[in-house]
Amino acid sequence: MKGIILAGGEGTRLHPLTKITSKQLLPVYDRPMIYYPLNTLLKAGISDILIIVAPKHSSDFLDLLGSGKEFGAHFTYEIQDKPEGIAQAFQIGADFIDGENCALILGDNIFTDDFTDVIKSFKTGAKIFAKKVPDPERFGVVDFKGDKVISIEEKPKNPKSFYAQTGFYLYDNSVIEKAKNLKPSARGELEITDLNITYLKEGNLSAEVVKGDWFDAGTFESLHEASLAVRKKKLGEPSIKVTIKTPQIHQSEFKGCTL
Ligand code: DAU
Repeated sequence: MKGIILAGGEGTRLHPLTKITSKQLLPVYDRPMIYYPLNTLLKAGISDILIIVAPKHSSDFLDLLGSGKEFGAHFTYEIQDKPEGIAQAFQIGADFIDGENCALILGDNIFTDDFTDVIKSFKTGAKIFAKKVPDPERFGVVDFKGDKVISIEEKPKNPKSFYAQTGFYLYDNSVIEKAKNLKPSARGELEITDLNITYLKEGNLSAEVVKGDWFDAGTFESLHEASLAVRKKKLGEPSIKVTIKTPQIHQSEFKGCTL
């Protein structure tokens, strides 16, 4: 299985922070944001990874991540000239994917789950990962029974469930052909939800619930919450007696991109 990290876009919701750097390079506690989706793929055994970036600040991604050798992986880079939709990743990445299945993760999505088993057992169709949220109208919303998806709608006014479609997706190789045939939505984007609907119409879209934490760190609030959650995971609950712990293992963890 190949992997794509989509790390383009303009990050306008995070201005002025994103005027001078890319959203996916902003810090989430002690790591650049992109380390977290990268860690999700590496942890699950995916090491051949395409990183799609916007032209502005693209060289910073290369400076930070390099060839992938440091992470025991191989990285390929592509530029997305304009943010014309998440599903465009499969047009840009068609040659990279070649004849394989592919996982896509958004560069601002942070998970604590380990997806190794689900990736190992994935063969055909598409799989999305859902998480119960209090504000589903902010996301793609999935209605499902067991693992069978009944409906999926992008940012609906009247959501049919409390389950958001997260930014992690598994696709079989037909994704390349399906993405080629997509038409831009009313807002001019190739929507990931429309791509998923083509699988749904074929009866080939399944869903799995995310058990651990999930953050879409694309707003000030969620970015802050994600940083706090990572800090808590690393250092434990802040106690009243404030003791600042400096974990000594950070440098060695850094190489493996461990959370
Ligand atoms: O985070 C999960 C949500 O991500 C899903 O529930 C939605 O169904 C999905 O559409 C998406 O919604 P967002 O409103 O979060 O999408 P956004 O436009 O913020 O893009 C998500 C990430 O993908 C962001 O880090 C930027 C990157 N991106 C986005 C687009 C549209 C690109 O790199 N290129 C693009 O063309």
